[in-house]
Amino acid sequence: MLEIAEKVHDETRQGEAFAPFKEEVNVYRKKFYIESYGCAMNFSDSEIIASILNKEGFGATRNFEDADLIFLNTCSIREKAEQTVRKRLTEFRKVKEARPGLLIGVLGCMAERLKSKLLEEEKLVDIVVGPDAYRSLPGLIEEAETGQKAVNVLLSRDETYADISPVRLDSNGITAFISIMRGCNNMCSFCVVPFTRGRERSRDAVSIVNEARDLFSRGFKEVTLLGQNVDSYYWVNETTNETITFARLMEMVALIDPSLRVRFSTSHPKDITGEVLHTMAKYENICNYIHLPVQSGSTRILQLMNRTYTREWYMAKVKQIKEIVPDCGISADIIAGFCTETEEDHRDTLSIMEYSQYDMSYMFFYSERPGTLAARRYTDDIPEDVKKRRLQEIVELQNRLSLESNKKDIGKTFKVLIEGNSKKNTTEWKGRSSQNKVIVFPKLNNDLKPGDYAWVKVNDCTQATLLGEII
Ligand code: SAH
Ligand code: SF4
Ligand code: F3S
Repeated sequence: MLEIAEKVHDETRQGEAFAPFKEEVNVYRKKFYIESYGCAMNFSDSEIIASILNKEGFGATRNFEDADLIFLNTCSIREKAEQTVRKRLTEFRKVKEARPGLLIGVLGCMAERLKSKLLEEEKLVDIVVGPDAYRSLPGLIEEAETGQKAVNVLLSRDETYADISPVRLDSNGITAFISIMRGCNNMCSFCVVPFTRGRERSRDAVSIVNEARDLFSRGFKEVTLLGQNVDSYYWVNETTNETITFARLMEMVALIDPSLRVRFSTSHPKDITGEVLHTMAKYENICNYIHLPVQSGSTRILQLMNRTYTREWYMAKVKQIKEIVPDCGISADIIAGFCTETEEDHRDTLSIMEYSQYDMSYMFFYSERPGTLAARRYTDDIPEDVKKRRLQEIVELQNRLSLESNKKDIGKTFKVLIEGNSKKNTTEWKGRSSQNKVIVFPKLNNDLKPGDYAWVKVNDCTQATLLGEII
């Protein structure tokens, strides 16, 4: 069932490795290749890393065979994520054996978690850099070029890379991520992120709005504001003394242009405010979609997880969302088999899924992470086969909910932002509704292009996709 969880994960924005498309290697003195794992924050960080490296004369290449430097931007969220990286490193060992000058760097959360231990465990690694230390990468590369091992895993209280204009790597030219904050101050007991990413800090709002405006002027039509907990965004403009909350930030980005869509991720149920929901309802270009991780439907388990809300509180939040933003799509993250979880707790999770009618979920079974509160305090006592069976039941329920949610859209018409050709068929466009659902429809003979909006009527669906026609 690990496979199921990872498969569900992989079909989405998260989880898949990627290498940059942009190739301008001829103007650069050296070439680097980067693969990203984990969440959108990591993908976004790779674009900051690329920008830092470009300035120092390193150009991105899509082929690791051509690269002088290979970087893996890694994730520690579950054991499986780390295993994937280790496997990839074994593959690169062979490349390095054939080309001893090649430098290999591990960046991101796994670098932060394991620090210099990683150099002992993985002898072929030359460079280890944590998420707050990317500005030191050029210096560390120089150090590594002289044959030393180079490490910087210092976490920072104020680094936001606000002044760095990310180089858009694997971009479709239409949608982009903007990192608005870093770190996390929540201490969910299962989670390694506060340890790998450090304290929460918000990025200068002016730089965020400027980045969005610049993207829009270059033809981008959708930005996703990223943070582990976007609703706790808080920044004070020292020139005007204005306090910027997440709702205000979202509004500032939405006001750039009505044809620029605004999305955000992730919302912690305890922090999403009425102000945020009313701002969503007020602006047509703020998408009606909230990723609202529930983790568990049992109050007892939520307490052990240190999520700071109860089952009833979460359900009231879902109700409030549906009242203020009536056609809002909702998705969740769910963990099966957390410490001490009983069949009754598990049934509470299934029933909260039914209640919330999630359009989609990312589903995992609990993976103990060293150093976390749960690892220190509780025993990982649910047998693997029970975890797998519960996860299977959660996945099956979500499959049904997704199909039901899609069936409800048959006959309705949606404004769709065209992102490009459909994967299967170049005579069809693929785009998304405001609710973040993928819609595929025939191109017809008109002059629509990626980045345009189309009104599409839904005629049919699968569990994952709506099928429609332009009206
Ligand atoms: N900041 C986001 C989530 C970041 S991690 C939030 O708070 O919602 C993404 C998801 O991975 C989490 O929501 C959780 O469902 C899952 N996850 C985190 N730690 C995990 C662990 N130790 N085992 C299994 N799943 C985990
Ligand atoms: Fe992890 Fe919780 Fe922070 Fe999300 S809010 S990153 S789950 S500690
Ligand atoms: Fe993974 Fe780090 Fe993101 S642990 S989920 S890459 S913040």
